[in-house]
This record gives sequence, structure tokens and C-alpha cells, in this order.
Amino acid sequence: MRISVIGCGYLGAVHAACMAKLGHEVVGIDVDEQKIAALSSAAAPFYEPDLDELLREVQETGRLRFTSDLSAAAGSDIHFICVGTPQKKGENGADMTYVDAATIGLLPYIASGNVVVGKSTVPVGTAARLANLVLDAEPSAHLLWNPEFLREGHAVSDTLQPDRFVYGVPGGSEEHPAVGLLDAVYSTPLTAGTPRLVVDLPTAELVKAAANSFLATKISFTNAMAEVCEASGADVSGLADAIGMDDRIGRKFLNAGIGFGGGCLPKDIRAFMARAGELGADQALTFLREVDAINMRRRTRVVELSRELCGGSLLGMRITVLGAAFKPESDDVRDSPALSIAAQLQLQGAVVTVTDPKVLSNASRRFPELQYEPNSEKAVQKADALLLLTEWQEYRDLDPYELARSVASPRILDGRNVLDAGKWRAAGWTYRGLGRP
Ligand code: UGA
Repeated sequence: MRISVIGCGYLGAVHAACMAKLGHEVVGIDVDEQKIAALSSAAAPFYEPDLDELLREVQETGRLRFTSDLSAAAGSDIHFICVGTPQKKGENGADMTYVDAATIGLLPYIASGNVVVGKSTVPVGTAARLANLVLDAEPSAHLLWNPEFLREGHAVSDTLQPDRFVYGVPGGSEEHPAVGLLDAVYSTPLTAGTPRLVVDLPTAELVKAAANSFLATKISFTNAMAEVCEASGADVSGLADAIGMDDRIGRKFLNAGIGFGGGCLPKDIRAFMARAGELGADQALTFLREVDAINMRRRTRVVELSRELCGGSLLGMRITVLGAAFKPESDDVRDSPALSIAAQLQLQGAVVTVTDPKVLSNASRRFPELQYEPNSEKAVQKADALLLLTEWQEYRDLDPYELARSVASPRILDGRNVLDAGKWRAAGWTYRGLGRP
């Protein structure tokens, strides 16, 4: 099939490459010329494991090209909208500028029988509104909503082998004429057994908001348990292992630590609350305010614990932060709890050095006042305390005996509860975890 993908960020670039991998003719379109130049030379402007290799592979087949010219969408059968919906400045709601601009810009190029497929995470009601625009422009075209559930760091495999497909179609009927077209797009994973659900437009939009809210709630629930564990001398890691063995609960997303961040969960729960408020259903989601508050408290807690670890004062203390991405295997620092903690410590008088295998240029653009050192061996030299805040494998593998020789004082705060406390203490370290004795 001939496919256009509008928006080539973390979602769209991966989607475009994966659609070409599935055998389709794809054009990726983005207003950012630099992004287009990078993608055209098979070098994604962000880090995503396996993506550059995939871009190279599919570009060699001639099935994938990138352009900043929206008119290149003309001639495609299916148009995927993959642009961002960031949080509005100073408000909780989602900023719909990009989704609206992409859809309106696309209208002149929509031909008879085309299908416009929204993948962006949007407030419920958006799809119905945009469907009207599409129908006004081309009465035989269709608009579907097909939310995306990929995780950064696993984006390629999540796109090629997702847990499920959700198709939102007007009326929610399997018989809708566009269902077959989308089935043809995803025929490889569908044949391999990926389940797909056909629902109506608002349900499809809500599935995404509900899924991210549930994930955020799981994390904040565990972090709330961590607070109780801290108050009672219990260990949240053991608690999570034990409750996670109940199939109904499950162990995934029960890792306590510095909390969730990134370009999705924080802004999605806020946008969901804002939208529910507009719909008069705000009471239904007041718990998400608590989920957000528990999450934000983690950051303050880490600053307090760092002060304790440094003997009561942060002033002049050399603190090295290991990991600044919002999670490992990503160079994304949007709402990264690690960076926000690093900046707080610096503001409170500590001398903070940040190291990370991938994000330093992104991080230094956001927080130029922090000191960055790409070489982790250099970064830890003469440190008064280490803070492991993003659990990259190389930090999990650190040897406490070797590391003790580099630092000024062997003190570590394990913000992700991934180190073996007993081993670090045996090597002479003062070890603090979160929600652990
Ligand atoms: C999230 C969802 O997991 C995806 O399904 C969704 O498609 C995506 O948002 C989106 O809306 O586009 P992502 O933001 O890539 O994906 O990251 P997650 O893997 O969900 O992690 C989010 C944050 O939670 C990270 O900061 C991570 O460190 C933290 N986390 C995760 C915990 O603190 N504890 C856990 O147990 C798991």
C-alpha cells in the first residue's frame, strides 16, 4: 500500500520505517528540515535502538523516503497522523496545534476512498471533530483512530509486534469499509496472531489515555508503598516481588524509585484530567491528581535523602548523577525526573556533575547550568556522593570495590533500587535505596 506518515518524531519516524519494513511504499513528512535530512541519511535525530539499522535497510529497498513537502502525501491510500500533543504551556490540557495543523494541511491531498489514521494521543472527542473536516474535504474518505502504544527504547519491536491493535471507527463496526484497508496495512503482524479490536472513535481515544493512566497509577501506587516502607522499615522491592506474583496484579511497572517521567505519562494524565473536567466528569479522575502528586514527591524525597547522605548539608558537596534520561535506552530528557533532581540539588548548593551514555547534548540544552561529563570514570572522580538516577546497564554493572577507589566518599543513593545493597555495603559504601531499609 502507499502510505504517508505525517510527523517524524519518536512515533512517526519509527512508524514510517516499520511500515516500509512491512512492505509498503512510505513517505515520511515533517516540517523540520533538519530532521528530514537526518532521516534521509538513515540517521535518526534521536536515539532509538535498532532504528538507524532499520532506516538503512528499508531505504535501500527504495520503499521509504522523507520530505518536508506535505504535497508528497498526494497519491497515498493511507495517511497516518503521528505529530506530538505536548502539554499546553501553563495549563494541564494537550496542545492540539500540531494535530490540527497536520490534518488541515493534509486536506487538499486527500483523494477519493483515502483513509486518514490518527495515531497521536489526543483528548477524547478529537477524532470526531477531525472526521468532519476530512468528510467536508472528501466525502468518500474516512478518518480512523488507531492509538499507538510503543515504548521508547523498544519502539521498533513494539511497532512490528505490538500486544494489540485498536481501531477506532465511526460507529465501532467491524463492517466499516476502512477496517479492511487497515488490516491490509498490518497484515503481517495480524497473520502472526496480534489481536485487533474494533471500537468506536471515543473508545479508541480513551483506550490510550486509560492505558497510560493505569501504568502511571501502578508506578505511583508502588511509590506510595515505598513511602510507607520508609516509615516502617520495610522493603518495597520485596513487597513488589510478592504482590507481583499474584497474576491479577503482575510484577511489571511496580518498580519504586524516583518516579515516572518522559514525554508521555506525565502530560497524558494531566491532559486526561483536563479533558474529563471539560466533559463534567472531573470527579472520576481526581485520583490521578494524587498519582501525579506522589510522583512529584519522589523528586523532593531524593533531594532530602541526598542531603542526609551528605551529612546534613548539600553546600559545596560534589554530587555525581549517573543517568539523566527519563529511562534507559532513550536519549529523551523531556520531564526527566533525574535531570529535575540534578537541577534541584544544584540550586540548593551542591556542585553537580551529570553523566549519561546518550543524553548529554539534549540535557545541556535544557539545563545549561549543570556540569556534564560524558566519561563516567571521570565523572565520579572525587565525588562526595553518587546518585544512580537512570538505570542504564553500565551503572547496574558498576563494581563497588573499584568505584570506591575513585570517589572522595563511598556514598550512593540508588534511585531505581537496582543495586545489590548487601554487596555495596560490604564494599564499604553507605547505601541508600528508596523505600528500602
Ligand atoms: C509510555 C507507555 O509505556 C507506552 O505504552 C506509550 O505508548 C507511551 O508512553 C506513549 O504514550 O507514547 P514511555 O514513555 O516510552 O512509554 O516509557 P515507559 O516505559 O512507560 O516509562 C515511563 C516512566 O516510568 C519512565 O520514567 C520509567 O523510568 C518509569 N517507570 C517505569 C518507573 O518508575 N517504574 C516502573 O516500574 C516502570
